[in-house]
Amino acid sequence: LLAKARAIGAEFVYEPEDVAKGVQEYLRLMDEGLTKHGRAMTMIPTYVTAVPNGTEKGVYLAVDLGGTNFRVCSIQLHGDSKFTLTQAKTPIPKSLMTGTSKELFSFLAKQIENFVKNHHADHFTAQGSTEHLKLGFTFSFPVEQVALNKGYLIRWTKGFDIQDAIGKDVCGLLQAEIDSLGLPVRVVALVNDTVGTLMARSYASPGKAGTLLGAIFGTGTNGAYVEKLSRIGKLHNKTEGEGEYDSSSGVMVINTEWGAFDNAMKVLPDTPYDRSLDKNSVNPGMQMFEKRVSGMFLGEILRNAIVALMKHGLFKMAHGTNIDENGPLFTPWSIDTSALSTIQADYTSEYTLTKQLLEREMGVSAATTGDAMAIKALVYGIGKRSARLAAVPIAATALATKAYDKYKEAKAEAEAKAKGGTPEEVEKIDIGVDGSVVEYYPGFERYLREALRDIQPLVEGAAGLEDAIRIGIAKDGSGVGAALIALVA
Ligand code: BG6
Ligand code: GLC
Repeated sequence: LLAKARAIGAEFVYEPEDVAKGVQEYLRLMDEGLTKHGRAMTMIPTYVTAVPNGTEKGVYLAVDLGGTNFRVCSIQLHGDSKFTLTQAKTPIPKSLMTGTSKELFSFLAKQIENFVKNHHADHFTAQGSTEHLKLGFTFSFPVEQVALNKGYLIRWTKGFDIQDAIGKDVCGLLQAEIDSLGLPVRVVALVNDTVGTLMARSYASPGKAGTLLGAIFGTGTNGAYVEKLSRIGKLHNKTEGEGEYDSSSGVMVINTEWGAFDNAMKVLPDTPYDRSLDKNSVNPGMQMFEKRVSGMFLGEILRNAIVALMKHGLFKMAHGTNIDENGPLFTPWSIDTSALSTIQADYTSEYTLTKQLLEREMGVSAATTGDAMAIKALVYGIGKRSARLAAVPIAATALATKAYDKYKEAKAEAEAKAKGGTPEEVEKIDIGVDGSVVEYYPGFERYLREALRDIQPLVEGAAGLEDAIRIGIAKDGSGVGAALIALVA
């Protein structure tokens, strides 16, 4: 059994050569997305042309839809890289994810009403008050953005599927529901969670060079980075009257939508467990990178692999093992990614934590230590592949933006200046991350960094890259980021 489990685990091995190929293909699709409209990896211009420096001030509302929880918060920016955050979180009822846009957005407006009543009652009751609270809307789905507070939904991801919202301006949908409740709230900014994360990280840890990339490894995965305007070819063939922006900084934040990287499956790894997941998803053939990396999917990949391993003796080792045949193991999408984290972190000699989890979350009682070991071999393969895949867009972004070239130049300069002594430290390439996978998956950053080192001899210009990258959590950052963009608005 263990040998078979290891063989299945080995199907998830993502070799150094494959990571390198992934980076090359990512660089190609990045360029294509920057110049052409309608590509799967959409490379969306966000109209955000400046990143904060920590001195920003004020009170803003933010709402956040698209991660594990729907959140309403108010953020007070103190202007010294610090902020105070008050927030209310609720999970989004599953039924709202596939209903109508009216149902979804009226639910969101209702949550905003509750929050404003609880935390900003003064504003709410002020008779005749015409001053509106400004709200930044973190909406973590691909949107064709035409202004800071206007964007048309391109497609849903992460299991949402509300057809009548596609093509609509999501700020308008939210504002209409807010207005129908008579709330003194104005939606002034529309922000992807990755853009919010990038902003928040820049505000909280402003290095001289700023943050290059904001990335989410959570329910979904995606990244936003700072790109030169001159490289965004498609900005220059826009519809009249839309797409105004201040070009003085010479840069714009791009929401890559890298979850859709290589939907064509030229370079991504593939197994029968991935294929069966894709076939049973609401969007087959889409978000192929995301389906191998992010939290919404790892549990389902594991479930498929466990079911396959059951044909090879899993759960048959001890007399008395009992499996609920209508339970989670046989119900698609019922295994949470946190299960993988728990199993990965189980170093008890009898695999007690894994056995408990099998009983609690998978409907399997009295599994043996051998069963648990076999399952851990699967988990190891799936989790490590996810983290190594995460290295692909990170490496490619550092190379394509020349951020790494700049780092090398600065380093060489510092060394020359030191004349053989200890050179002054050079600021690393800063990356802000958020999401349940990067935050809780044991060893995620370690495996990601291993993959970054693996490609150093294989990708031109990448020698030494891993050491030049600093990764920092921007916890719940997108709310702060939305506030920062609302401020600019
Ligand atoms: C939260 C952010 O902290 O992380 C959200 O506020 C983001 O905007 C989320 O979508 C991603 O993580 P997860 O694991 O909740 O999908
Ligand atoms: C999905 C969404 C993207 C979002 C990411 C992380 O990939 O399409 O917009 O940023 O999930 O939440």
